[in-house]
Amino acid sequence: MRALVTGASAGIGRAFAVSLAAEGYSVTAVARGVEALETLMAELGEGHGHLVADLVTDEGLRATTDLLRGGGFSLLVNNAGTASHGDFAEQPLESALTTLDLNCRAVVALAHAFLGNAAPGSALVNVSSTLGHTPKPGTSVYSASKAFVTAFSETLWHEQRSRGVHVMALCPGVTATASQTATDVPTWLVQSPQQVVDSARKALSDSAGPVVLTSPANRMFTTALRLLPRRAALSILA
Ligand SMILES: NC(=O)c1ccc[n+]([C@@H]2O[C@H](COP(=O)([O-])OP(=O)(O)OC[C@H]3O[C@@H](n4cnc5c(N)ncnc54)[C@H](OP(=O)(O)O)[C@@H]3O)[C@@H](O)[C@H]2O)c1
Repeated sequence: MRALVTGASAGIGRAFAVSLAAEGYSVTAVARGVEALETLMAELGEGHGHLVADLVTDEGLRATTDLLRGGGFSLLVNNAGTASHGDFAEQPLESALTTLDLNCRAVVALAHAFLGNAAPGSALVNVSSTLGHTPKPGTSVYSASKAFVTAFSETLWHEQRSRGVHVMALCPGVTATASQTATDVPTWLVQSPQQVVDSARKALSDSAGPVVLTSPANRMFTTALRLLPRRAALSILA
């Protein structure tokens, strides 16, 4: 069993890589930073590989899609993602476009390369976010990119069912990783990367989905926000 995990050098992606390796997968870890990838490889031991690739660039994306098109992978975890924070109009356009390139363009290209070869029993996990359900002012492009990932995954789930390929939008809420900088989040809402991955592994073994929220607290909070008038939900999240 071979799995490819993007953004595997830190946070949720790293927890995926470690957990899948422990489960017997041969893991291919993709990220930009060579040092962190080599540290991960040393931790995983023999039988795993890494690819240094910037998924925002055509070159990095092509190297990764080529690997997937070569076949042999039964699991793709499309995890690498980024966010820019602040009022949209005050942020450089470049950071908004980079967010779209990594969170949407790369996810589509990698999913396409993977599904072209996927055998029955394979799975595609696209890491989305609860903000894809309930957009948060100050993270406009990020929230919209995750709404895209969730909708994309839902339709793929339906399209791929008859082939026996399982597709899932994994929607963590606030997760304690280096890129998570919010300080005003109640602790009962915050998960560790390992908790997110444990929830994903259980959802995969139960063929749950197409949309998986990773904790009861996140399910409750997201449902409550969706029951509110949209204006009220936006004010609360802001
Ligand atoms: N943390 C949260 O609260 C939270 C909540 C909901 C959803 N999520 C989603 O979960 C996923 C992982 O988030 P995280 O918090 O674990 O992130 P993280 O700790 O910041 O790690 C991001 C990973 O992606 C890699 N990466 C970043 N830019 C890349 C690029 N251009 N090309 C290739 N790899 C790249 C990073 O390595 P390099 O920098 O070396 O490339 C790193 O391995 C993301 O999709 C995020 O949107 C996170």
